[in-house]
Amino acid sequence: MNEQQMVPILIDEFISGLVVPVDIYVKLSEGKFVLIAKQGTKTQKDQLASYQNKDVNYLWIEKKDYHKLSNQTIQLAGIILNKSDVDSGTKTQVVTAAAHTMFRHLEHMGLDGVVFSQAKQIAEVTYQLVETHSRISSLMDSLNQCSDEVMRHSVAVSAVATMIGVAHKWQGKGTMEKLALGGLLHDIGKKALPPELLKKPKALMSFEETQLYETHPFKGMEMATGLGLVPDDIVAMIYQHHENTMGLGFPQKLRDIKTHPFARIVALADEFVNLTIANPNCPEPKPPREALNYIQFVKGQPYNKEAFRCLKLIVDTEQKSTRSA
Ligand SMILES: [Fe+2]
Ligand SMILES: [Fe+2]
Repeated sequence: MNEQQMVPILIDEFISGLVVPVDIYVKLSEGKFVLIAKQGTKTQKDQLASYQNKDVNYLWIEKKDYHKLSNQTIQLAGIILNKSDVDSGTKTQVVTAAAHTMFRHLEHMGLDGVVFSQAKQIAEVTYQLVETHSRISSLMDSLNQCSDEVMRHSVAVSAVATMIGVAHKWQGKGTMEKLALGGLLHDIGKKALPPELLKKPKALMSFEETQLYETHPFKGMEMATGLGLVPDDIVAMIYQHHENTMGLGFPQKLRDIKTHPFARIVALADEFVNLTIANPNCPEPKPPREALNYIQFVKGQPYNKEAFRCLKLIVDTEQKSTRSA
């Protein structure tokens, strides 16, 4: 088995008694792996503990299967988060775990390592902060009531937006936290949309359905302002994340100059995530470089120039490291 095709997973991340959606291996030596659990079998507490006793901290899965494991974690997060008897501290931990999973998914795309790890730290600290802000915590609850799909997407947009902020060399802690949080909450208005509509590819929506779909930034903005004291920057990211530089976005058709600088970043992160992580509109996601080419040459790069330059820097590192490998 080629090591390049394998991904290590901390043993602690496997939950005992759960049916695993992937084949699991133990690494014997460089490039040598042995299958210990087949897809569809249940993980046993004793078995996991026995490996830890032998100082094995990681189990391995095939890279091509990674998304199945991350989907399971996110689904699990959704189940826990929807239980009303779970306290907000536990919920934050679960969101952080889901974010961790999604961050690793992004990491395997090969984006810039330094930018990536800084963004990861910022996002994780930010999610911990949510517990202490009751209004934001209530928005987070709304996000948790959305589908797994929205949750997965939101965590990924938060991660990519934060990476763009890091690549921008934005320094302020508050700035970066707002970016991470706004990325996480940008689609909160989708809670008000029928779940069937969210499963439908946009190309198949009727005129009325498209109109309804395009209300989600406004509905999200209403939810956030209704709570009072949610920072304006976060409200702007929710309301303006579908605007673009050409003034062809929605709901206000605002040109770049009139949108909030954070919203410009979330708009690009949103598009990039939609192209690189499977969803109803893009069942076969593109590698990051292809996604950038698509934004640039097919869509005519309708996003903020500086934000796009930063995203390119993050992705180009992947190209450099692939070429030098
Ligand atoms: Fe959206
Ligand atoms: Fe979105």
